Amino acid sequence: MPLDIIIGTQWGDEGKGRITDLMAAEADVVARYSGGDNAGHTVTVGDEVFKLHLIPSGVIHKSATCIIGNGTVVNPAVLIREMDALKARGVDVGPGRLKLDSKAHLITPAHIAMDIAKETQRGSGAIGTTQRGIGPAYTDKTSRVGLRAGLFADPEGLAAAVKAHITEKNLMLTKVYDAQPLEIEPVVAQFAQYAQRLRPHLVDGSVYLNEALDAGKSILAEGAQGTFLDLDHGTYPFVTSSSPTAGGALIGLGIGPKRVGRIVGITKAFTSRVGSGPFPCQLEGALASRLRGTGANPWDEFGTTTGRPRRVGWLDMVMVRHAARINSLTELAVTKLDILSGLEQLSVCVAYELNGKRIGYYPQDLEQLAQCKPVYETVDGWMEDVTSIRQMADLPENAQRYIRFIAEASGIPVTFISVGPGRDQVIYG
Ligand code: GDP
Ligand code: IMO
Ligand code: MG
Repeated sequence: MPLDIIIGTQWGDEGKGRITDLMAAEADVVARYSGGDNAGHTVTVGDEVFKLHLIPSGVIHKSATCIIGNGTVVNPAVLIREMDALKARGVDVGPGRLKLDSKAHLITPAHIAMDIAKETQRGSGAIGTTQRGIGPAYTDKTSRVGLRAGLFADPEGLAAAVKAHITEKNLMLTKVYDAQPLEIEPVVAQFAQYAQRLRPHLVDGSVYLNEALDAGKSILAEGAQGTFLDLDHGTYPFVTSSSPTAGGALIGLGIGPKRVGRIVGITKAFTSRVGSGPFPCQLEGALASRLRGTGANPWDEFGTTTGRPRRVGWLDMVMVRHAARINSLTELAVTKLDILSGLEQLSVCVAYELNGKRIGYYPQDLEQLAQCKPVYETVDGWMEDVTSIRQMADLPENAQRYIRFIAEASGIPVTFISVGPGRDQVIYG
């Protein structure tokens, strides 16, 4: 059985957790491969709402084993808190069920302090990070000084590594960023406790996952963030510090490309972005407020991790095509179609105008991107509530047209249409 991959095609928050939860019903293993608790994935099952940051969304199904892969960065305090919250709700998060790759990198309080100090120093040029220590933890990984989860199996090595790490970061914090140092011993003691709790969950993820595939099991890789937050392919430097794209799934789990089956691009029926950086189709005013919602519903456009209002705009097919190319998408899942009900006309960006010329690609140069004006096609909307519809043929004609438009403009078939956050609120295309 193959490795199926779920990818965000925009700037995150497309509904990856929601689609992972659907697909996890068929999966033996569900794996996170990039990012850390900067992610916020919401899954709604009946009256229950689960907000997950690190633990794969497959955990809510009783069947799937969950693994946090080598490509992630893990704050052990957050992981333990999330485990405890799930356990209190009757979800099994024991070592047989939830595994942590020994090669995943650890986020420490010093990484968080560095993230905040760097953002403060950037001033008006701040990235708008989630301040979860993601960038500094990946920086340590690539600088080859990071702390890996495998240290939880080596108490003495862990204590020495944490001590050296905080000592070095304190120098940076005080001498470069004029920030407060951290007390070393409390962090060493905390990490010793985390080690005791998390040691039984450690595995060599690549071995575990490849053996599962060899045994005929299926793996679902749950992307975090989105293609345009990718360190290489996103709107650099307004990106995250990992590779939330299909290639990142292979590196972040230690699985080779021949194993890949479906690559599902999750596309919200409009676009959102939280944090700074370019957004050619961004809307302001009443229409933006309408798409964002007021915050009264759990699905309104406010960050799951930070609570920040998300910037919103029309659907941008230049982005979706770019995501299709980078990730070799085999299919699309369109989410939040229900939010568009009641809008008389919808605009979809099909190209950009750059210096008077029409272009169909996403410029990598941010100055060029800033000059791009969206070229919109306008399509008629629909008034009907679609949240109870379960068949494509029962959707209003204009909603069906909107979905066909997305499939044709991207060249990728739409196989899921989500019409609400609930598990059953889906139409299979
Ligand atoms: P993720 O980060 O990609 O997993 O997405 P988030 O969970 O951060 O944000 C998506 C939000 O939209 C969540 O609150 C979901 O429950 C909700 N959601 C997902 N699909 C739909 C849908 O089709 N309709 C509505 N109304 N909400 C949805
Ligand atoms: P999910 O998985 C939306 C954004 C941050 C910021 C930039 C860098 O829920 O879709 P970081 O803390 O990673 O250094 O921040 O990336 N960002 C996300 N935006 N959804 C996410 O995850 C995000 N993870 C990071 O807002 O702009
Ligand atoms: Mg999210």
